[in-house]
Amino acid sequence: MNNFKNLRGTVDLLPDQLIKWQNVEKIILEQLFRSSVKEIRTPILEMTDLFLRGIGEGTDVVSKEMYTFLDRGKRSCTLRPEGTASVARALIQNGLLTKPFQKLWYMGPMFRYERPQAGRQRQFHQLGVEFIGYESVRSDIEIITLAWDILEKLGIKELNLEINTLGDHVDRSNFQKAFLKWLEVNKNSLDQDSQRRIDKNPLRILDTKNIKTKKILEDSPRLFDFLSEKSLDRYLTIKEKLKLLKIPFIENFNLVRGLDYYTHTAFEITSGLLGSQATVCGGGRYDNLINQMGGAEIPAIGFAIGLERLILLSGNELEKSRETDIYIVNKGSNAETLAMQLSRKLRNYNLITELDLSGSSFSKQLKKANKLKSRCIIVIGDIEALKNEFVIRLFINVNSKNQEETISFGDDIKLDNWLKKNLLSTVLP
Ligand code: HAM
Repeated sequence: MNNFKNLRGTVDLLPDQLIKWQNVEKIILEQLFRSSVKEIRTPILEMTDLFLRGIGEGTDVVSKEMYTFLDRGKRSCTLRPEGTASVARALIQNGLLTKPFQKLWYMGPMFRYERPQAGRQRQFHQLGVEFIGYESVRSDIEIITLAWDILEKLGIKELNLEINTLGDHVDRSNFQKAFLKWLEVNKNSLDQDSQRRIDKNPLRILDTKNIKTKKILEDSPRLFDFLSEKSLDRYLTIKEKLKLLKIPFIENFNLVRGLDYYTHTAFEITSGLLGSQATVCGGGRYDNLINQMGGAEIPAIGFAIGLERLILLSGNELEKSRETDIYIVNKGSNAETLAMQLSRKLRNYNLITELDLSGSSFSKQLKKANKLKSRCIIVIGDIEALKNEFVIRLFINVNSKNQEETISFGDDIKLDNWLKKNLLSTVLP
């Protein structure tokens, strides 16, 4: 028989792991709700051209990492490698850009054909946030602060914020001219990968990990020196405001990001606790993207957090979760019918109710309740069913008789009082 396996770079998230994921997602969603950011969901599959145009053909993501195929109608489709281009497309297509300001978030799987390693997968998950229509420097600060606060709320340690500015397209094209001239002279001293990038995406050379190239680049022209007064002003204000908010940052003039749409502010947040894949969040301003994709000239800024990296970093304290609040032990045909009705009623409360469906002996069912550390058990056997009642008791161990009560089916007030007194007053979050 064929032993099927998942594809390399994809993972199964199993029930025990998902408790942590759900806790992390809950904290994120609360913070987004409090910051009045609204959800948007776009398809996972898009036309390939969207990413060619949006992200840029010279980027690694587009040239090497996309999952692209022809569908049965011979249309080129791509599994989304990121969410920003899709959000821009959705806003244009649905006529939503008439609203002047929008704060949006999305969460879900993204796909990049990269070499898998710890914290790097081919199917991974991102939380993305996009502020559309926002031009002011304060929106840059607000978006960085939001990313920072989400990570802090999750208790992530050793965070480092790196910032840079990429200027506007005029600044960048002036810089690129000077940089290309310099590259022509220094080409042969660079590593092969950087040499290949000269024609495709010269800016990304600044981002090289090659130590020798890094050293040589120290003498290259700096984008910073080509900034217009306006761009420089913007950058200096961001630094000043971050200081006021006491968000520590370092400047990294080589931070260029891997996607072509960025203008002005670019930032990344890393954690010293992650290995080589240390970037947990990346983002920046993209004032030309919407226009470039056929929409009006609308400024925007956003970020995305890699959820796998977040999970690697989140502490064990997040893993605590309630398994079961009420375990219904039941045996005998009448008892089993009554137990089913009761479990439906109990699920109207904020309590986790587990109905034993095994039909096995009382002692086996009690052992299961014990194993699940249920806070309370309900017992319904033939005797109870005959009297149309059930026994409910706080469960400390198999022999415990504490806080026991017999309640008739239909006596909702008595049940309600018992639950309020014994369980609901201490329900865990
Ligand atoms: P990005 O830097 O390509 O930005 O990705 C953001 C984050 O996604 C990374 O910092 C990392 O945590 C995570 N990530 C990326 N690739 C992988 C992978 N193969 N495995 C695991 N995690 C990964 C963007 O995608 C932009 N759309 C962010 C943005 C939104 N900029 C403006 N708005």
